[in-house]
This record gives sequence, structure tokens and C-alpha cells, in this order.
Amino acid sequence: MITITEKQQKQVTDTKSKPFGITPTDHMFIAEYKDGQWANSRIVPYEHLSISPIAQALHYGQTVFEGMKAFRMADGRVNIFRPEKHYERFCISLDRMCMPPVPETLFHEALKQLVQLDAGWIPGDDEGSLYIRPFMFASEERLGVKISDEYIFMIVCTPAYRYYAKPLKVKVEEQYSRAAFGGTGFAKCGGNYGGAYYPTRLAQQQGYDQVIWTDSRNHEFIEESGTMNLMFFMDNVLVTPPLSGTTLDGVTRDSLLSIAKDMGMNVAVRPITHREIKDALEQGKRVEAFGAGTAAVVAPIEVIRIGDKDYNCYMGDDAVAFTLKDALDAIRKGVSPDKYNWNSIL
Ligand SMILES: Cc1ncc(COP(=O)(O)O)c(C=O)c1O
Repeated sequence: MITITEKQQKQVTDTKSKPFGITPTDHMFIAEYKDGQWANSRIVPYEHLSISPIAQALHYGQTVFEGMKAFRMADGRVNIFRPEKHYERFCISLDRMCMPPVPETLFHEALKQLVQLDAGWIPGDDEGSLYIRPFMFASEERLGVKISDEYIFMIVCTPAYRYYAKPLKVKVEEQYSRAAFGGTGFAKCGGNYGGAYYPTRLAQQQGYDQVIWTDSRNHEFIEESGTMNLMFFMDNVLVTPPLSGTTLDGVTRDSLLSIAKDMGMNVAVRPITHREIKDALEQGKRVEAFGAGTAAVVAPIEVIRIGDKDYNCYMGDDAVAFTLKDALDAIRKGVSPDKYNWNSIL
């Protein structure tokens, strides 16, 4: 049972010109895990938390999150995109971090009720959506490196517009690693992101937006970038690296692969070296590169640094990235049929 305490006044503000993620909506969901059970499931007005300074997450990093979106459809209804796949991934991440699963019905009910209550915040225009952030952290009050016995699970939301204002300039990273084999790269746990800041900041100081991670053994194979999986269109084939355990199993990646196959594109999921991308670019071939992720949706890459040289990727109007993005948007907005059953319409 989820109790709801509604805020009196709905305060929907225009967030289009604001940076991503700084405007929480009116309400949040919260539940507590103690003595092996989830309790006190509630939706309350958005407010700050009071937690112990020795809550375990603050020290040892047991924290996992998800990122998903709700859309205002063309007919005015609200659609949460692929919540089942996000729930599945949430559970995989939690398991890797030794954190308890959230019961499936609790997750979906909380999501629906919160989005319904704050639906006024979902931008109605083509560019906007509601970003939904389910997350869990270890709340046991205890200094000591051990698996926590207590957790807090929450969901907050924020209106979202374009994540990247312009095409990206990225750098293939050959020194630092985001994830090693056997590590936590496939989990959406906080530490993966904190650890990525330093090399990303170095790249930004050199004028790039993001790094492209490569395998931690030899830095030969392309992995992913920031909060996006990567796709390339070369030699008339859409190619993306396989999920090697060091990259996140992106919901956008999975969706675009299905759409591309159904559109009759040649699709290959296979290891990609930065060497082969460099060779193709040096031979003057058309190479498209783009990131795929919930926040960024489809983010075209204009410039890619490989070794000591910047290369320009194809950015024409007929780029595959735009075709795929339009097809995905059309399904989410209910303009094209949802033959995959991805939409969860409230
Ligand atoms: C590291 C990383 N890779 C890839 C993605 C893309 O995944 P999704 O399409 O499910 O948002 C994300 C975003 O969640 C991410 O954080």
C-alpha cells in the first residue's frame, strides 16, 4: 500500500532553458528496507532527507540508480517507456551491489502513481519529456565495511529537454578505464560515474565533451561514452559493441537495434576497434557515430579524436542517427504503432 500526501499547490515552472536535472517535480516516492522487509511506502511532497552521517552509502558506495522517461503522447495520454526493462536492469545492478530487490509490483505501482500525480510537469512539446530517477542507497547507521542491512528506495522526477545542445566532440580514451572485466561496469552503480569524472575532466580541458571508453586490457576495443552506448554506421552497416560485462545494457541501444533491424538495415553487434574506425575515416569513407541513451536519446558525434588526430564523422541530413531517433520518438509519442509493446500508457 502506497500512501499519498499531496502538495496543495501545483507549481509547474518552465524548465526549457534550465540545465538538465535541477528542477525536481512536486512529489517523490520513498520506501524503507529494514529487518528484511520493505515498509512505509509513500508519495510525499518533494523535500530534503535527513540521514545519518554514518549512513553506509556515504562511505562505501552501495548505491544504484535507474534513468527512464515518460512522454506526453500525441493524443495527450502519458506513456512511460519500457519500465519493465528498466526494472530488470535495476535488479541486476542491485544484485551486483548486494542490495535487496524492490518487489516488482511496488516498483511499477510507485512509478505509475508518482508520474500520474506529477503529470502536469511533462512537457507537451516535441522536445520534452519527464526524466524519472529510481534509486536506492544503503542507509544503515554504521561505520564498518560490510553489506548494509538497511536501505532507502526512492523515485524522483524532473522535466527534461535536450541533454546535449549540439553535436559532440569526443576523444577515444587510451590511458584511463571506466570498468574492468569482472568489475561493476554493467551495473548502474554510483561509483562507476564518480570514477569516470577525472578522465572526462581531462578530456573536457582539451576541448572534448566526452571520452569514448575502451577495454581496460589493451585499450583497443570501443566500449561506451559517458551515459550513452555507442553506434557507428560504416560500410552500410549499423554496428555496436557487444555487451561485454563492462558496459551498461542500454534500453535505448536495445530499442534502436530492434527498430533498425525492422527497417531492413544491416545490423552487426560485434567488437569494434578504434583502429578500424580510424582506417575507414582515413580512407575517406562515410562513417557515422552517435551515442544512444535515455537522457541524450540519440546524440550525433561530429568529431572523434583517435590517437593524436581529430576526425570528422558524417553529419548529413540523411544520417542514420536521425532516422532512428525519429522512428523511436514516433513510437513513444504514439504516432507509429508500438508493435514491441514498449509503451506503458497510464
Ligand atoms: C554508462 C551508461 N551507458 C549507457 C547508458 C544508456 O542506457 P539507457 O539507454 O538505458 O539510458 C547509460 C544511461 O543510462 C549509462 O549511464
